[in-house]
Amino acid sequence: MPILSMQGVAHLYNKGTPSQSKAIYDINLDIEEGELVGIIGHTGSGKSTLVQHFNGILKPECGKIIVDGTDIWSSKKATREARFKVGLCFQYPEYQLFEETVYKDISFGPKNMGLNEEEIHKRVLLAAEYVGLKKELLEKSPFDLSGGEKRRAAIAGVIAMQPKVLILDEPTAGLDPRGRDKILDMIKSYREKTGSTVLLVSHSMEDVAKIATKVLVMNNARVEMYGTVDEVYSRSEELRNIGLNIPQVSKIFELLNKNGLNLGSAYTVEKAAEIILSKGGASV
Ligand SMILES: Nc1ncnc2c1ncn2[C@@H]1O[C@H](COP(=O)(O)OP(=O)(O)OP(=O)(O)O)[C@@H](O)[C@H]1O
Ligand SMILES: [Mg+2]
Repeated sequence: MPILSMQGVAHLYNKGTPSQSKAIYDINLDIEEGELVGIIGHTGSGKSTLVQHFNGILKPECGKIIVDGTDIWSSKKATREARFKVGLCFQYPEYQLFEETVYKDISFGPKNMGLNEEEIHKRVLLAAEYVGLKKELLEKSPFDLSGGEKRRAAIAGVIAMQPKVLILDEPTAGLDPRGRDKILDMIKSYREKTGSTVLLVSHSMEDVAKIATKVLVMNNARVEMYGTVDEVYSRSEELRNIGLNIPQVSKIFELLNKNGLNLGSAYTVEKAAEIILSKGGASV
């Protein structure tokens, strides 16, 4: 049974007004438990709208959203449960940090779940560890943290609820390459350690290639492709036609292959290096 499903889902913004628009429609999708799904697509293609349906922040105009076997709009209880089963971290989540200390911010979600102090304490420490925030930072004001640390503190607040599904909407946006890599590594190891399902919305096809097990491509409010990194990225021509560019290194490999070198495909610099080294380097 898939952990997340959508059946015939559509969402309209500004319904009944002249600016009414279909942000997503005709969405049919099954995501299996434990996958790390990279969600890509041009600006305005519907990525954020899509993911905000999984924990009931947005209600669909039509269709069903099934989380862990339950239609999340079938009862109030089901909707509430979806909020805890699916943890959603918005783009620029650090703007939502507001407590006096980082500790209090991370504990906000678990507190809302009605957990006792001891359990909350355990979860805050564990979540901080997952995101690589040192213990001494927990008593600081969130406003004294660096940009990358703030981002990780905000993500820890979602992780502390121990959701079955973690959704991150552009978690690396605006960070420097080091901050970006730290977050990507953290997401990868979080999924490996917990077995959770993770959805990662990203503008970087290379970042997605680094850590995703599946890729979902949004285009003009619909799901255009869903498959493994290889299945999706090998359709480079179609991707280009919908405004997506495969990573630079993949283009170089495509050119080399066209010129008679039989290198196969590489979607990350690391993979490219591995392939070249395995061929003995000098002969390439
Ligand atoms: N709150 C809103 N009110 C009205 N229209 C909206 C709202 N949010 C999004 N839209 C519209 O819905 C469509 C899908 O937007 P969405 O934010 O889901 O796209 P996205 O793929 O996440 O884009 P980006 O890459 O820029 O984050 C766009 O046409 C957008 O203008
Ligand atoms: Mg978005």
